[in-house]
Amino acid sequence: IYRSASSSTLPSFLLVGPSGSGKTSLLTLFERGQHAETRTSQAPLTVEVSLPVTTSTTSSQYRSVNDPTNQIHKKLLLVDTPGHGKLRHHAFDSVVKPRNLKGIIFMIDAADISTNSSGSGNDALRQAAEYLHDLLLLLQKRANTKTSKAPTELPVLVAANKLDLFTALPAPLVKTALEGEITNVRSSRTKGLLDSGIGMNDLDVGEEKEWLGDGGEGKFDFAQMDELNVSVSVVGGNVLGADGPDVKQWWSWIGKTL
Ligand code: GTP
Ligand code: MG
Repeated sequence: IYRSASSSTLPSFLLVGPSGSGKTSLLTLFERGQHAETRTSQAPLTVEVSLPVTTSTTSSQYRSVNDPTNQIHKKLLLVDTPGHGKLRHHAFDSVVKPRNLKGIIFMIDAADISTNSSGSGNDALRQAAEYLHDLLLLLQKRANTKTSKAPTELPVLVAANKLDLFTALPAPLVKTALEGEITNVRSSRTKGLLDSGIGMNDLDVGEEKEWLGDGGEGKFDFAQMDELNVSVSVVGGNVLGADGPDVKQWWSWIGKTL
């Protein structure tokens, strides 16, 4: 009797991001092929989903289209986490104890964020940037503790969701808005630590322990994560919408990462 691979060995993807960004909606769509009502999540939820046969993976691209192995659904696990600030430890725990963790999907409501003329963001952008900052800092520390060999790759997809809404920022603007706001978060975190009486020497800013990205004082951008083997891509889509969902590009990111 053959049993399918135990679910704990399936490649898994972690879904994180602020409350209301659409994580559970995406999970439901991926699992059932259709949308269902969601309620705000209070605990993590893992489901097994299949990559659509139309999505190519890195390992399948060298195969002929007639190769029967292309017709087999690739399975993966999707781990949904609650976005509420008090429950985020679930998300961070899942990063620290990876069981075949292949990638992280950070979902954001692109209709909920904006920047003013002076370049600083609204509350939703600020909160999303704080969450993403803390996640990337965790990944940076994770990469830096694996001293002997190069850190294992752990790509991050920033899924700019709700692009069906006309107020939504397109993905390239979501990217610059997040990078700008993470720059602000980074300097205010450092200032906060200094104000609390911790000396500059205790802070280890020089060793980049608490400082995200390269050591420089300049602007943060996602490309600074590349040397840690954490590649960040910002890709738009929508789970709902009058014209139906548009999640093709997210699937193809998953396919490439598998
Ligand atoms: P938490 O569980 O609190 O972390 O939130 P969540 O990220 O799981 O959000 P959820 O999936 O529950 O979605 C929040 C709301 O956004 C729901 O009312 C969804 O119907 C709505 N929503 C999700 N995706 C889209 C989208 O692409 N477009 C639009 N217009 N609404 C969406
Ligand atoms: Mg949810």
